[in-house]
Order: sequence, then C-alpha cells, then structure tokens
Amino acid sequence: MESGGIAIVTGASSGLGEAFARELAGASAGTARYRGLPAFDELWLVARRADRLDSLAAELCRAAPGLTVRAVASDLVAGGAVESLAAKAAETTKPLRVLVNNAGYGTYGDLDDTDTARLLGQVDLNCRALTECCARFSRLLTRGSIVVNVASLAAFAPLGGFAAYAASKAYALSLSVGLAAEWKARGITVCALCPGPVATEFSLVASAGARKEVKHGWPAVKTARACLRDAISGAWISMPRPIWRLRRLAGWLAGPELSASFAYRFMKRPSVPSRPDV
Ligand SMILES: NC(=O)c1ccc[n+]([C@@H]2O[C@H](COP(=O)([O-])OP(=O)(O)OC[C@H]3O[C@@H](n4cnc5c(N)ncnc54)[C@H](OP(=O)(O)O)[C@@H]3O)[C@@H](O)[C@H]2O)c1
Repeated sequence: MESGGIAIVTGASSGLGEAFARELAGASAGTARYRGLPAFDELWLVARRADRLDSLAAELCRAAPGLTVRAVASDLVAGGAVESLAAKAAETTKPLRVLVNNAGYGTYGDLDDTDTARLLGQVDLNCRALTECCARFSRLLTRGSIVVNVASLAAFAPLGGFAAYAASKAYALSLSVGLAAEWKARGITVCALCPGPVATEFSLVASAGARKEVKHGWPAVKTARACLRDAISGAWISMPRPIWRLRRLAGWLAGPELSASFAYRFMKRPSVPSRPDV
C-alpha cells in the first residue's frame, strides 16, 4: 500500500465505527485482507466521547506503527462542526482516501412518547450531518477514494414504533445511491451499508437504557469487514448477510403499509418514554 492520504471514520467511539477503525488500521499495517483499498497514512477517529477516542487511537497507533491516528472529539450536529473538520482535513493537503460516515442513532417507541429534541437530533445527525459530510468532504476525495455511508435494513420499509429512524435511513440510502451515480464518473465509490441487527450500543441508546443489547446482533467486526470488501469491489449497497437481503425482499413484497403495521404490532421495541411531559 502506498502512503499519503487520510481515512476518516465518524462515530468511531463504539460499535460499527470502532470496528471500521480497527479494520482500517489493520489494513494500513499491511494485512492482505483488503487488496485494492486506497492508500492512507492518517486515520481520524471522530465522535463526541474524547476518552474513548483517545484510548482507541493509542491502541491503534501501537498496532500500526506507520499510521498516524488522530482522535478528533466533535459533535457533528453542532453548528460549524463538519465545516471545521473538513477545513482541518484540507489543511493537511492530503487526499481523503476513505470516508466512513457512520455516526448515527435511533429512538425506539412511538413518536408521541419521544422527546422532540431527541427525535430531531436523530434526523439532524442521520440526515443533515451525513449530507454535510458528503458535501464538505467531496472536494478532498480523489479518483479511487471510497465513501461508506451507514444506512440500515430499516431504509427499505417504513417501521411503526421506529418511524423517524426508518425514514432517516431511507434518506441515507437514497442520498448514498444517488451520489454513487454522480461520483462514478470521478472514479469514487460510494457504498451504502444496510445492516440488520448488529451487536453494538445501538439499542442502549435507542431505548434510552431499556434494552442493553441489540437482539440477535451480528458481530460489528464481521459487518465492517464485509462492507469494506463490498466497497472495494465497487458495490453501491452492502448487505452482507443473506437473512438481511431476505428481509429486504419480504419488506418489498409486503409493501410499505403492511411493513409499517406489522412492525408496529409484532416487533415492539422497548423504550422509556422520554417526553418531558409524560
Ligand atoms: N447496531 C445496529 O443494529 C444497526 C443496524 C443498522 C444500522 N446501524 C447504524 O450503524 C451506525 C453506527 O451505530 P452503532 O450500531 O455502531 O451504534 P453505537 O455503538 O451507539 O455507535 C454510534 C456512534 O455514533 C456516535 N455519535 C452519536 N451521536 C454523535 C454526534 N452528535 N456526533 C458525533 N458522533 C456521534 C457515537 O459516539 P459518541 O456518543 O461518542 O458521540 C458512536 O460512536 C448508525 O448510523 C446506526 O444507525 C446500526
């Protein structure tokens, strides 16, 4: 692998983002797993929890001595955050070779029971910040660069009891595939990762503590690994598990009305009502 480029992972303090960061650091240390991955010699880890980023950065620096790993504590929905991140990346004058737009969260439960600020924060992060990252980092991408946008299996069908999250991921998928078409001529691959359940802190956050673990979650490292391979091969959508592809098909066959009603009735997700007035 040649050197001289940046890889950025957002939401790198836990779950899928942490797994992507570990895989990318391993790749830069010379594992043969990712033949065709564009070259980079800096890995930026972005999220809000600085302590977690610092310890992961220290660990990855030790594991991959030739790689500069930077912990960048940033709240991506804060005003000017993405702009300043892109400005810092531009200052290095290095091309952005890999961008993993992974930061995101959900809110389980009825919209009526959900604190409006949490609800809108989710849309802000999953949709607005994602779009801003694509827009502001675009000029730093070069031929051969890879962008992974983390959407979800929930992108393919509306879900009662998880309505705003599914809608936000439908947006993420649509944006990603649209950009894949636009940036193909620039030689840039854009891949939307659409996983089903993955074992991360997702449920803990989405349920406001009511469910500690993602039910039937697939290992994050396997998901990240399969996605990177798919992205390197030029795929626009990555759904590594056959069961996830089957569920996508089932949602398509059922149609949006039945999918939403079925999910609301039979796939209840635990939540702690978080409306201040509840
Ligand atoms: N786990 C699943 O079953 C599943 C399935 C489909 C899709 N996904 C998607 O996968 C992505 C990663 O989630 P995960 O499952 O790995 O959950 P997670 O373990 O909760 O990770 C979420 C990451 O996003 C970061 N984040 C949250 N708000 C942020 C903000 N305002 N600014 C910057 N970073 C922020 C968190 O870091 P800080 O809290 O430190 O900021 C954390 O690193 C999300 O987009 C999620 O929607 C997950």
